[in-house]
Amino acid sequence: MKVAVLGTGMVGQAHAGKLVEHGHKVVIGTNNVSKTLAKTEPNAMGRPPFSEWIKRHKAIKLVTFSDAAKHGEVIFCALSGDGALKVLKELKTDLAGKVLVDITNPLDFSNGFPPFLSVVNTDSLGEQIQKALPQTKVVKAFNTMNADVQVAPKEVANSDHELFIAGNDDWAKTKVKEIAKSYGWKNILDLGDIKSARGMEMILPIWLMIMNAKKTSKFNFKIA
Ligand SMILES: NC(=O)c1ccc[n+]([C@@H]2O[C@H](COP(=O)([O-])OP(=O)(O)OC[C@H]3O[C@@H](n4cnc5c(N)ncnc54)[C@H](OP(=O)(O)O)[C@@H]3O)[C@@H](O)[C@H]2O)c1
Repeated sequence: MKVAVLGTGMVGQAHAGKLVEHGHKVVIGTNNVSKTLAKTEPNAMGRPPFSEWIKRHKAIKLVTFSDAAKHGEVIFCALSGDGALKVLKELKTDLAGKVLVDITNPLDFSNGFPPFLSVVNTDSLGEQIQKALPQTKVVKAFNTMNADVQVAPKEVANSDHELFIAGNDDWAKTKVKEIAKSYGWKNILDLGDIKSARGMEMILPIWLMIMNAKKTSKFNFKIA
């Protein structure tokens, strides 16, 4: 399948890398191809620059967000919470009729760490994206665990923990569940329509507290 990943951060890299391993034709999208390739310093989190990663993933092409949206039958949105809506609105025509897997969290770092949620309680970024792109089938998924766990759930309790998903279109959710199963997800809990993105995005504050307490990001929630 032709898959596009919007976003060159650790989430975009994790999904693009896994999808290509599974035989998909993958492109990864960025704001500006040459600027992204020109960065040679580690990022703010101390991770190697994208230019290093792409050298090790020769089957994945780095393209603009616009070209990525044109390429993908399924598109993963791994954009920062503050940039996602603006970027996606510009891609509205190319995303029409397609499945958009929304992994974003609406994080506001303007007051430092820990971040606030910029949308919360009565709305969510997932809903805002669906509202802005009414012809696109938005499926909220993967936003409640670390990027590495998103694509390798077996590394935590042999996959005995939950992936939450939400969206208005059952066919699109089935498609995303199939991809998730191919990553090794066993427990996929469908929380209903896109309004459930509210609860999924509100998991982030407690997730951060658990990470601080356990000193690791390699964990997830188990529903029993
Ligand atoms: N990190 C995790 O483990 C994790 C887990 C769950 C959910 N999430 C969520 O997944 C998303 C991606 O996270 P991430 O850590 O991989 O990367 P990120 O640093 O949050 O986002 C990276 C991507 O967003 C683009 N971007 C950043 N600011 C922008 C702006 N103002 N306008 C337009 N584009 C902008 C960057 O563009 P360029 O390519 O041009 O630099 C890059 O492609 C976020 O919403 C995050 O909250 C992350």
